[in-house]
Amino acid sequence: MDLGLRDKVVIVTGAGAGIGEATAKLFAEEGSIVIVADLDEKNGRRVEEEIRSKGGKAEFYNLDVSVEREIEGMVKHVVRKYGTVDVLVNNAGIYAKGTVLEVTEEDFKRIIDVNVKGVLFCTKHVAAVMKERGKGVIVNVASEAGLVGIQGQVVYNLSKAAVISITKSCAVDLAPYGIRVNAVCPGTTYTPLVEKALSREKDPEAVRRKLESSRPMNRLGRPEEIAAAIVFLASDLPGYATGAVFSIDGGYTAW
Ligand SMILES: NC(=O)c1ccc[n+]([C@@H]2O[C@H](COP(=O)([O-])OP(=O)(O)OC[C@H]3O[C@@H](n4cnc5c(N)ncnc54)[C@H](O)[C@@H]3O)[C@@H](O)[C@H]2O)c1
Repeated sequence: MDLGLRDKVVIVTGAGAGIGEATAKLFAEEGSIVIVADLDEKNGRRVEEEIRSKGGKAEFYNLDVSVEREIEGMVKHVVRKYGTVDVLVNNAGIYAKGTVLEVTEEDFKRIIDVNVKGVLFCTKHVAAVMKERGKGVIVNVASEAGLVGIQGQVVYNLSKAAVISITKSCAVDLAPYGIRVNAVCPGTTYTPLVEKALSREKDPEAVRRKLESSRPMNRLGRPEEIAAAIVFLASDLPGYATGAVFSIDGGYTAW
């Protein structure tokens, strides 16, 4: 099936690893021009190289999504070089553990800056470009954690609930300009983020098994499965969808 993404200019934040990497690679397979935007230069360049070595079109851009002027600089660069932005995937995100009794101001600020401010300000600058052309698609990567109160990670949960809220507000604000904004809510997916979190546990294997059995499908997600949902939402096929929140979590939020 042709998703109509050939030569579309696509920015994927946090594309240097995990879900973002799989998403960047899938867009490239569809023929898109992918901006691999990441804080991590080594991994970002690796993903750029891997896409190019398979004949895809990719450019790494070193970006911290928590800094507005860096976002502005990236959007200017992309528009100067490629003429526009067709798709933005707000994927970059970080994780922190801790109940409400353990929360620190430092963790709160760090998570909000990346997971919430990053999504809002990337949307602001990219939507300004899309508005001029009267079209564009934005896909935000929220989480199952934004839908329910997963134990022991209050700040991460609230940051992802905010991403869902941003998705709905921006869908309403930007619909008059032909811009669709939707979100995916992945369940626990085996990526470097989850690997790192598991490695801090006393018994990583036991925690992994608990994560698996906490969902009807009894397994973790694969980055490629989340990427497929993102690419589908970014295509014109679900052209009537905006403000939608798509769960892809092995059934975690269904029971
Ligand atoms: N893995 C999961 O189980 C899971 C589940 C639900 C939602 N998510 C969300 O999916 C997204 C991707 O998660 P992942 O598991 O692939 O993470 P990951 O840690 O494996 O990869 C995230 C990438 O984002 C980059 N990044 C981090 N901070 C950045 C910043 N300030 N500016 C630019 N880039 C930055 C990192 O360098 C890294 O390359 C996140 O928003 C995460 O919250 C993940």
